[in-house]
Amino acid sequence: MHKVKIGLIGLGNIGGNTHCGYLTELDSVELVGVCDVVKEKAEKVAAECGTVAYTDYKEMFDKSGPEAVIIATPHYAHTPISVEAFERGLHVLCEKPLAVHVIDAQKSIDAYEKAKAVHPKLVFGMMFQERTLPFYRKLKDIVDGGELGRLTRVTWINTAWFRSQAYYDSGDWRATWAGEGGGILTNQCPHNLDMYQWLFGVPARISGHAHIGKYHDIEVEDEVTAYFEHEGGMIGHFIVTTGESPGTNRFEIVGENGKLVYENEKLILYRNRISMLKHLRETTEKFGNVESWYTEIPVNTKAPSGHRVVAEKFIEAVRNGGGELIAHGTEGIKGLTIGNGIMLSSFTGKTVDVPFDADDYERRLLELIRTSKYVKTVRDAGDTDMSASFSQV
Ligand SMILES: NC(=O)c1ccc[n+]([C@@H]2O[C@H](COP(=O)([O-])OP(=O)(O)OC[C@H]3O[C@@H](n4cnc5c(N)ncnc54)[C@H](O)[C@@H]3O)[C@@H](O)[C@H]2O)c1
Repeated sequence: MHKVKIGLIGLGNIGGNTHCGYLTELDSVELVGVCDVVKEKAEKVAAECGTVAYTDYKEMFDKSGPEAVIIATPHYAHTPISVEAFERGLHVLCEKPLAVHVIDAQKSIDAYEKAKAVHPKLVFGMMFQERTLPFYRKLKDIVDGGELGRLTRVTWINTAWFRSQAYYDSGDWRATWAGEGGGILTNQCPHNLDMYQWLFGVPARISGHAHIGKYHDIEVEDEVTAYFEHEGGMIGHFIVTTGESPGTNRFEIVGENGKLVYENEKLILYRNRISMLKHLRETTEKFGNVESWYTEIPVNTKAPSGHRVVAEKFIEAVRNGGGELIAHGTEGIKGLTIGNGIMLSSFTGKTVDVPFDADDYERRLLELIRTSKYVKTVRDAGDTDMSASFSQV
């Protein structure tokens, strides 16, 4: 069996625990090197995984001979590492988000497109493992099936991202403009922003309200409410925070033929007997709803999901010279466009038309970094169970 030679970069919570965990179990993988700028981490993980430790990813690329790399460093490093990997013709699986902002995301995409012209089988994947979660898969299945007819409104309240001050204090890069480039939209919500665009596309207009350090001692946003307008008239609401407990994860997707509601591990489909829009135009009745009924949609919650599934698809694609991925790297820019658009709207107090001036957004970020007066407190939170970071209960 062709074992794909993989180098793993960034050995923190997600790299050193989650990725290492499944990579060492896969027969189709040879982990040829692990890299972290912190030497002790690199050596510890290398010893655990029976591979070679590096502190410089370029040295790892030179010496370990990887065919593919998994990038699990803090966000800003995703761009230079992926660009370097593509320039060397290496396949890339990048942790979310693809970048901090659209300008950097485009650099990675450009590097990929350029490299692909020389290496047509080059694979570029994003770690958007929430796309594999059974409820979201089913939601996508129903939305794509068109049963709801013309979509009119989507409301996603996702406030189940509770984070304590101790979480924010657990890493020097966290929740700073210079280290992370944003707050909830950059760290927790890339999955939700990707999910939103995966289901409905990128909105045409974005209006955002972001509160900076409202509940936590941080200099980035921890509460966001956004309003989206799509071509065709559908509107969207996106309400997220890391400062609410118990949180809510409620997804309402409304169309002329009914409504799909996901909450508390239940998916309910309301079905109108006739199109609500048709009824609205044609009925002579002044009140009363369209006749409807509802059903709970069965979902196979035992289906395999998570990081491992995304990585396995990626590895299969590398081995086969192409194939389906859970999320293509180039799609990473879409959710980022929504997230940056929300922040740009919040900064300017104006509705943003998409595409917007991405240079303007980058300039604002650089200015925030330059003028930052925030003093970061870092307290080591010790070993963290990362499974709690991407599960929403
Ligand atoms: N898919 C998910 O559900 C999920 C969950 C958590 C984190 N993440 C993402 O994974 C990435 C890492 O997050 P984390 O929580 O593991 O952070 P972390 O701080 O625990 O780990 C990051 C590691 O990268 C190392 N590092 C920094 N710069 C480096 C460089 N240039 N080269 C090599 N190593 C470098 C650091 O020393 C650290 O060990 C982030 O992009 C984050 O958004 C994804």
